Amino acid sequence: MGKVKKIGVLTSGGDAPGMNAAIRAVVRTATYNGLEVAGIRLGYQGMIDANFQKLESSSVSDIIQRGGTILKTARCEEFKTTEGRAKAYNNLKEAQIDGVVVIGGDGSFTGARIFNEEYDIPFVGIPGTIDNDIYGTDYTIGYDTALNTVVEAVDKIRDTASAHNRMFFVEVMGAEAGFIALYSGIATGAEAILIPETKGESRDIKKLIEQGNTRRKSSNIIIVAEGDEEGGAFAIAEKVKNDFPEYDIRVSVLGHLQRGGSPSAMDRVNASRLGRAAVEALIDDQKSVMVGIFNGEITLVPFRRAVKLHKDVNHNLVELARILSV
Ligand code: F6P
Repeated sequence: MGKVKKIGVLTSGGDAPGMNAAIRAVVRTATYNGLEVAGIRLGYQGMIDANFQKLESSSVSDIIQRGGTILKTARCEEFKTTEGRAKAYNNLKEAQIDGVVVIGGDGSFTGARIFNEEYDIPFVGIPGTIDNDIYGTDYTIGYDTALNTVVEAVDKIRDTASAHNRMFFVEVMGAEAGFIALYSGIATGAEAILIPETKGESRDIKKLIEQGNTRRKSSNIIIVAEGDEEGGAFAIAEKVKNDFPEYDIRVSVLGHLQRGGSPSAMDRVNASRLGRAAVEALIDDQKSVMVGIFNGEITLVPFRRAVKLHKDVNHNLVELARILSV
């Protein structure tokens, strides 16, 4: 058995459905192993302000099905400073917290990595972001739910698009990654998908529209990842409008509704697995690593790699989307 006796757990960065399921798994696994748990509220800011709350098994009852995060979350500028991290360390020491589980995305893991180079309290990460853009894991908590939310929304947009013979540009989240756009585009039969990982798709859009014209398609749906290099859905719609003035074009930006809602079964199960794995990693004296799921199995990935390396989309799926939209 390792040295850790009391762990802290926090959620950081953008919230994602399933974070509560992960918190629950962390608390219950720690309790099962005889460890105490402190919830750290509002991400790293809670470490700096000593905003801690004792968590017991009963504290995490009835949360597995809830979106958001009971610990609240934030993007914390102060933790990026040496002074901020020093305050955080002193507060953790004072509260006798000797291991921390960070549930968040790559920004959160960068903070954790730097902290672990400076201080001896081990941090272990759980990938939690709807973007699914973390290297070393096939899956991040919240992605599956967000994807299903988008699919439901786009199906509804398709109904009205067909009814009016309209073209819709639907913007989905993903500032630097096109996972949500690519998968939702395939799942909804989108005519085109624009993502940051591929360039120059607006040329393809023109071709597709011309093709669609000959087929007399009653609707066109183009999914745009917010981080696409050609701009957001409004900017691209404007360009297309110039080339095809006869088209009745509408834009729909799905926005933060993609981050909310009850987590899918997949997100709940994976969050539960990752929560357990993170606590066991701390018990095994691991530090500065993220737990991930790779080919169905739990893996440990150093923060350094998870943050530095780029996770690409599967380009076979990009091709698949093109083939199926003829
Ligand atoms: O990283 C998750 C995410 O939802 C991105 O897809 C999006 O670009 C960003 O967060 C939005 O952040 P905020 O909630 O701060 O506007």
